[in-house]
Amino acid sequence: MFHRAITGPTKFTSVSLAELVGAFSYALDITEGQPPGHCVRACWIGSHIGRALGLSSAERHDLYYTLLLKDLGCSSNAARICELYEADDLAFKKGFKTVGTSLAATLHFVFAKTARGSSFGQRATAVGNILKNGVAIADEMIHSRCTRGADIARTLRFSSAVCDGIYHLDEHWDGSGRPGHLRGDAIPLFSRIALLAQVADVFHTHAGRDATIEEVRRRSGTWLDPTLADLFARLAENEDLWRGLESKFLDARLVALAPAEASEPVDDDYLDSIAAAFGQVVDAKSPFTAGHSTRVAEFAMGIGGKMGVPQARTRWLRRAALLHDIGKLGVSNKILDKPGKLDETEWEVMRTHASHTQEILGRVGVLADLAPVAAAHHERLDGSGYPLGLQKHQIGRETRIITICDFYDALTADRPYRSAMPSKEALSIIEGEVGRGVDGDCFEVLRTHVASSQ
Ligand SMILES: [Fe+2]
Ligand SMILES: [Fe+2]
Repeated sequence: MFHRAITGPTKFTSVSLAELVGAFSYALDITEGQPPGHCVRACWIGSHIGRALGLSSAERHDLYYTLLLKDLGCSSNAARICELYEADDLAFKKGFKTVGTSLAATLHFVFAKTARGSSFGQRATAVGNILKNGVAIADEMIHSRCTRGADIARTLRFSSAVCDGIYHLDEHWDGSGRPGHLRGDAIPLFSRIALLAQVADVFHTHAGRDATIEEVRRRSGTWLDPTLADLFARLAENEDLWRGLESKFLDARLVALAPAEASEPVDDDYLDSIAAAFGQVVDAKSPFTAGHSTRVAEFAMGIGGKMGVPQARTRWLRRAALLHDIGKLGVSNKILDKPGKLDETEWEVMRTHASHTQEILGRVGVLADLAPVAAAHHERLDGSGYPLGLQKHQIGRETRIITICDFYDALTADRPYRSAMPSKEALSIIEGEVGRGVDGDCFEVLRTHVASSQ
């Protein structure tokens, strides 16, 4: 059944942190333009390295989360990549990961991808800007990504070893990386393992086993720690490492590989924090949606409370509202931030964000009943919404609440193609949609709620 208007207390379902973070890591994969499961596969590779190094159980715990969350800050540079390179951020990020380590290869890639499809003049301007400011631009983007990722990990109560591991992911053994241009052993061990695991998975999915072994060898001593590269070459002789990477059941196999400390159960408070953290990852993707998920969640709690949603259930509703747009991580900023009307093809891509929300949250066992409610926030009572074109009787009260809060916040915030509307004007537009797009009871409560909070 797709939709239910459940109003009973939230049922506590036990879930381990390893399982939960593993499922959420799929949201980071789509932000990086990587095939689904990239972070899980990187964690599989890196965890084998950790075991081979003889790390303690506590160290392997921290390594495990560094690997799964290495891309936690990745949404924060998407808009900037799009703006500077005039390129699709997802394709750019994906392509960049397979570029060689030399300056010539990097420049060739950047120039080939910059402002593709634009006029000669536009390309020349964009390329000229990169030539002039390339180093500062790269510094700024990597700094923002690393800082953001480490900050979010800290709010999720991970240790400083995990936060440092995420912060220094892009450092290279020869000192050519960022953000600190650290060299050799000065780079945290978890960052060195995570970078190797990242390179190995990208080349494995892109070009197969032999190419992976060759690429790790080739990058040894430049990007990668030579000791770890040698260790990987030995591990690569183990068929089980590759079978795991190619297994449909890798998620479960990885959880089984996790040290005991990683399998601690997640309580409701921590689940709230994780939902809020991923809401921040979504909001960081575009300057036009800064704070959107958080505001929709606050509105939904206020309106839910006024509509008689039980207190325990408003907590559930808040999580759904925080995560309703998580699928936008899979939509390029070229579309999200377009300063004009979307064409039909772009709209088609934009609409996929709702089904991406279902796919991502549907992986999280403990959020299984929340996923369809969050994913249905663009459904309309007259059946003309998306992604499923649900009919009125299939759209539950909680979805209707999120829908109206999302609508109100979208109208009262700046958008690439128009300025923020005053709330009176926004309410008038929403009122015009009552009965067709949005629910009348929800609208009346929204109107009262807005009046009381001004
Ligand atoms: Fe949306
Ligand atoms: Fe939204």
